[in-house]
Amino acid sequence: MRLTVIGTGYLGAVHAACMADSGHEVLGVDVDARKIARLAQGRAPFFEPGLQEMLTRNVESGRLRFTTSLREAAEFGQVHFVCVGTPQKENSQAADLRFVDAVVEGLAPYLRGPSLIVGKSTVPAGTTARLTVRVDALAPEGVDVEVAWNPEFLREGHAVEDTLRPDRIVAGVSSSRADAVLRDVYAPMLRAGVPYISTTPATAELVKVAANSFLATKISFINAMAEVCDAAGADVVTLAEALGHDTRIGRRFLAAGLGFGGGCLPKDIRAFMARAGELGVGDSVAFLHQVDQINGRQRHRTVDIARDMAGGDFTGRRIGVLGATFKPDSDDVRDSPALAVAAAIHRQGATVRLYDPQGIENARSVMPQLEYVHDATKACEGADLVLHLTEWPEFRRLDPAVLAASAAVPKILDARNTLDAALWRSAGWTVRALGRPTPPALPNQQAAAPVASAYSSDLG
Ligand code: UDX
Repeated sequence: MRLTVIGTGYLGAVHAACMADSGHEVLGVDVDARKIARLAQGRAPFFEPGLQEMLTRNVESGRLRFTTSLREAAEFGQVHFVCVGTPQKENSQAADLRFVDAVVEGLAPYLRGPSLIVGKSTVPAGTTARLTVRVDALAPEGVDVEVAWNPEFLREGHAVEDTLRPDRIVAGVSSSRADAVLRDVYAPMLRAGVPYISTTPATAELVKVAANSFLATKISFINAMAEVCDAAGADVVTLAEALGHDTRIGRRFLAAGLGFGGGCLPKDIRAFMARAGELGVGDSVAFLHQVDQINGRQRHRTVDIARDMAGGDFTGRRIGVLGATFKPDSDDVRDSPALAVAAAIHRQGATVRLYDPQGIENARSVMPQLEYVHDATKACEGADLVLHLTEWPEFRRLDPAVLAASAAVPKILDARNTLDAALWRSAGWTVRALGRPTPPALPNQQAAAPVASAYSSDLG
């Protein structure tokens, strides 16, 4: 089939490459001419495992091309996937739909034959219905155009795998024709047994925000338990393991720590609250406000524990930071908890030296005031305190004995609860974590002071 994918960010670039790889003719579209030029040469505009190889392969075969022209897109494809961003509005919690609207309004007048516009971006319930009215007004007389919603559930860092082998495909359609077209688009996946749920556009729109709300709630639940564990002297990692054995609960998304960030979960739960309010059911999702607050609190807790470990004041302290991205296997620093903590500590007077395997360039562009280095050892050299803020696998493989020799003071805060604390302690490190008890200090070490209960307010 001839498909277009409009918007070539973390979602669209991967979708375009995967659709071409599964045999379709694909035209990727973006307003960013530099990004399009790069993609047209088969070069990935961001780091995502497996994407580069897939782009090269499909650009070389000619199945995947790129353009900045919506007119060319309209003339080329029968199915148009809308993959542009839906960020949070500046002065409200609601989603900003101006990019989605611009795509649909820019495309509709050029459509010539029967067309299906398929939204993949995360949008408030009711968006498909609203866009359908716009398209009906803008498409040429007699041209049959339908708008459908087919939300995307990919996780950054696993985007290629998630797109090729999704847990499910949700098709929000208003006609059997649209349903048949989507079944054709995804035929290889359906043959491989991927569940396909055909429903109304409103249900499809809601599935996505409900899924993200559930995941965010699960993370905030375990982080709330981490706060209780800190107060009770209990261990949240063991607690999560014990909960996770209950198959009704499950172990995934119970990793306590610095909390969630990124371009999706934080803004999606806020947009959901805003939309529910408009629909008159704000009370039904009011708990998401707590989820958001618990999440933000983990950043403050991390700064407070770090300050305590640094002797009560960051002024003049050298802090080594491991991690800038909002999660491992990504270069994305949007709403990154790691970067928020690093910036707060810097504002409070510390010299911050940061290393991240993939995120340095993006971090530097939004936080140029921090010092960036190109390996973990350098970040720890001469540090009064090391903070482990993003759980990249390579940080688990670090040799704590080697790092202890070069740090000024061997103290580390594991804000992701993934380092082997016993190993680090045996190499001479004082280790603290979120929601885990600190063992009694050895005679030559200082005992950990209790975490301040009033959280610092120096965080965005
Ligand atoms: C998320 C959804 O998982 C995906 O389905 C949706 O399409 C987009 O939003 P993503 O933003 O890529 O995907 O990241 P995800 O893996 O969900 O992690 C989100 C954040 O939660 C990260 O900051 C991660 O570090 C944090 N997290 C995740 C935890 O703090 N604890 C956990 O147990 C899991």
